[in-house]
Amino acid sequence: MRISVFAAGAVGRISCSFMSAADSELAIEVEQLHKWFGKVHALRGVDFSVPRGTVLGMLGPNGAGKTTAVRVLTTLLRPESGRARIDGYDVVHDAAAVRRCIGLAGQSTAIQIELTGRENLEIMGRLNHMDRPLIKQRSEELLERFDLVDAADRVAKTYSGGMQRRLDLAASIIGEPSVLFLDEPTTGLDPNGRLGMWEILRELVARGATLLLTTQYLDEADELADTIIVVDHGQVIASGTADQLKDRVGGDVLEFSVPDRNLMDAALRAIAGITDASPQVDGETRRVTVSAGGKGSQMLVEAVRRLDAAGVETVGLSLRRPSLDDVFLAVTGHAAEIDEDGATSRRRDRRTPAPAKEG
Ligand SMILES: Nc1ncnc2c1ncn2[C@@H]1O[C@H](COP(=O)(O)OP(=O)(O)O)[C@@H](O)[C@H]1O
Ligand SMILES: [Mg+2]
Repeated sequence: MRISVFAAGAVGRISCSFMSAADSELAIEVEQLHKWFGKVHALRGVDFSVPRGTVLGMLGPNGAGKTTAVRVLTTLLRPESGRARIDGYDVVHDAAAVRRCIGLAGQSTAIQIELTGRENLEIMGRLNHMDRPLIKQRSEELLERFDLVDAADRVAKTYSGGMQRRLDLAASIIGEPSVLFLDEPTTGLDPNGRLGMWEILRELVARGATLLLTTQYLDEADELADTIIVVDHGQVIASGTADQLKDRVGGDVLEFSVPDRNLMDAALRAIAGITDASPQVDGETRRVTVSAGGKGSQMLVEAVRRLDAAGVETVGLSLRRPSLDDVFLAVTGHAAEIDEDGATSRRRDRRTPAPAKEG
């Protein structure tokens, strides 16, 4: 993707704060949100806040409630109880004002595939009550920045998935929102497309936008988010910076593989008792990971000695800093997986009695 800068019309230039009910430092404030779909309790008292100009990564598996939360915050759904404010405006009582402050790129794109890229941007500009010259100026800037100039006059259904995503994001920011909601912005993109999207998102934040980004990709949250909230079963089960979350795992992680599956039990017996944490075993790759607590190097030496004494051959025995995968294991008991395209993600559909970690 081409690297260029936005022209004068900066994203986030028009902050809603000048007309805010409260002159809050917080772009997003959420208190005890509950949302039901019939018998499904999709949001169970969600609380979090996002300071202006920062990125919140909302991380969680399928069905965790991420999209529901985004839809409530963007006024598309009414919560049963609780409160949420965007730039000081209540999402239920001041919905029209909220809509003027926000942009949304949903989980599936909202573009009109029968229209050209340029026409899609024009429509969004008109929906944002922008005048024609401004729409034209912003469209040209966005087409340039999102590397869609050559495709601008082609109908969007001829676009690749990555191009459609970029067009959707361009459309969501044409009105220069101060708070931008992105629901799984890189799902379905190839690794290059993902890197390109990250670059664009970083640029938006550098220009003052506040971002709430949902993702199933651990590396994405690690890369982009100032603060991460981990959502599972409609609740925030952990929050903090990526480093703080990694610290919750408790020290470094000891890791090794046991090539001979018949020796796995012997390996687990050998390391039992050298830490209070229980080891996680991935049955497929036969990789064992265990939190080493505060005494990593001591434990590494002890593990080598015991595994050797038990006659267990291991591969890649090492000590490493916890990843967000380990955080997931620690806070949810479910494992992280590797996607087809190689990115680490979270899914819960393969839960096993002894949580397995793949990678
Ligand atoms: N319109 C709906 N009607 C009924 N159930 C829904 C609806 N939208 C979401 N749900 C349910 O609410 C829960 C949370 O879904 P969702 O917010 O889409 O999760 P996520 O975006 O984290 O994958 C799931 O159990 C889902 O099946
Ligand atoms: Mg979703």
